[in-house]
Amino acid sequence: MWILILIINVAGFLNIAEGIGPSGNCTLLPKGERSFPQNFSFGVSTSAYQIEGSWNADGKGPSIWDEFCHNHPDNILDRTNGDIAANSYRRFDLDLEALRDLKVNHYRFSISWTRIYPSGDISSKNQKGIDYYNNVINQLIANGIQPMVTMFHYDLPIELQKLGGLTNELFIDQFVTYADELFKNFGDRVKTWITFNEPVRFCKPGYGTGRDPPQIKASGIGDYLCIANILKSHAAAYHLYRSKYFDEQHGKVGISLDTSYFFSKSNDNELVYRSLQYNLGILAHPIYSKSGGFPEVMVKEIERNSLQEGRLKSRLPSLEGKWKDLIRGSGDFLALNHYTSKYVERSPQPLGDNPSMQRDYDTIETVDENWLQAHSYWLNCVPEGMEMLLNFIRDEYNNIEVIITENGWSDSGEIEDNNRIVYLKSYIQAVLNAINDGCNVTAYSVWSFIDNFEWIQGYTDKFGLYSVNMISPERQRSPKKSARFYRQIIETRKIPNV
Ligand code: BGC
Repeated sequence: MWILILIINVAGFLNIAEGIGPSGNCTLLPKGERSFPQNFSFGVSTSAYQIEGSWNADGKGPSIWDEFCHNHPDNILDRTNGDIAANSYRRFDLDLEALRDLKVNHYRFSISWTRIYPSGDISSKNQKGIDYYNNVINQLIANGIQPMVTMFHYDLPIELQKLGGLTNELFIDQFVTYADELFKNFGDRVKTWITFNEPVRFCKPGYGTGRDPPQIKASGIGDYLCIANILKSHAAAYHLYRSKYFDEQHGKVGISLDTSYFFSKSNDNELVYRSLQYNLGILAHPIYSKSGGFPEVMVKEIERNSLQEGRLKSRLPSLEGKWKDLIRGSGDFLALNHYTSKYVERSPQPLGDNPSMQRDYDTIETVDENWLQAHSYWLNCVPEGMEMLLNFIRDEYNNIEVIITENGWSDSGEIEDNNRIVYLKSYIQAVLNAINDGCNVTAYSVWSFIDNFEWIQGYTDKFGLYSVNMISPERQRSPKKSARFYRQIIETRKIPNV
């Protein structure tokens, strides 16, 4: 048994060892075919709370982000909120005009749960919310743009949080009922469904460090419980779709997972592999690996830490039995959000509070000061990481179809956004290189379509291809230089020499 695990692990490290290291200059040379396949889908991404505004219009109920921004403005860098944001709820016509102008093949947006069920529960069903998204979907399709829908992008109904939110298993039934409503109303036209956006980015600050809403401070406990409940809810929604809707609707269901890629200056491939497991594998292994369950290394280490803390069992919930089987294989594609890379090294002393996810991970992450830096403190341009990550996913998860649902660059809002062009050029080249290496990547989406509310950074970090005039009530959109650049890629299927 141990020999087998060792062989599997060694195989994982070997794939990493064959890779390329980061050059630090934010460019990548083409490898093989120079154009994207004709059926490759290019698009852009947004999420409801970040662009829609109209936080209480037409019966919408409050989400944890509404409550957090209204009651704790000090937690947002510029004390702003998503009350109006880019006003997409009122001015979807402006979005549509820009989407047409960009010539995208798909548009990934999220549905606000509290527009559909203002209290989170079916008893509060709100037809006006359903009408809004019906109109968005119809207009997209009428213009030849495929809708790609995220069901949950952080904006949990406040009433569900009162019941414990993602730490209460009741959430699973609530989510599946909501998913059923979405499949029933929109599944005749929506063929690509993403259940959750970035569970780790939601659970860790929401139920671990308490930085983000719902501000539960229970690191190493609440965050793992949240992740386990997301896995279960995702799997339950997936199976509902397969049994009740697939035969008629023929769509596919996946989940958006995020991770950086990791490099080691000392060629510690085991550490690189372990870092990928802690960041991506925590959700990808239960769903997409052959064996299922949480990654072996996490199960072992977190159980050891938990016993040392005097507990009787692991803080990492068990995924054995019925749930393990339901979760394994519950994804038709892996939706990937990837922005940047880090160097990793082992930490000489235990890191972080006891207990905490950080202490379990126990790894120091750094960046190279030569890497091009975005406006966001956490974001550097390291395109080799995208190529390596796609290769890792190909080998680790049986070449599952990958839809890149987010990749992008922040600045302070320049229209001549040359660094965004440099970044996109190199990362899109990395995607093409990976396709040439046999990676099953079928779609790519820039985060973000338009400038929007960047969570606790407020409106200070701008990710959009389009600028939004946040001062005028009209919130007009204007294309940045990068929008023209991206349109050229979409039209020609080639990466221009700029
Ligand atoms: C999230 C987006 C966010 C983007 C940039 C992703 O992690 O899904 O909501 O705006 O990163 O920070």
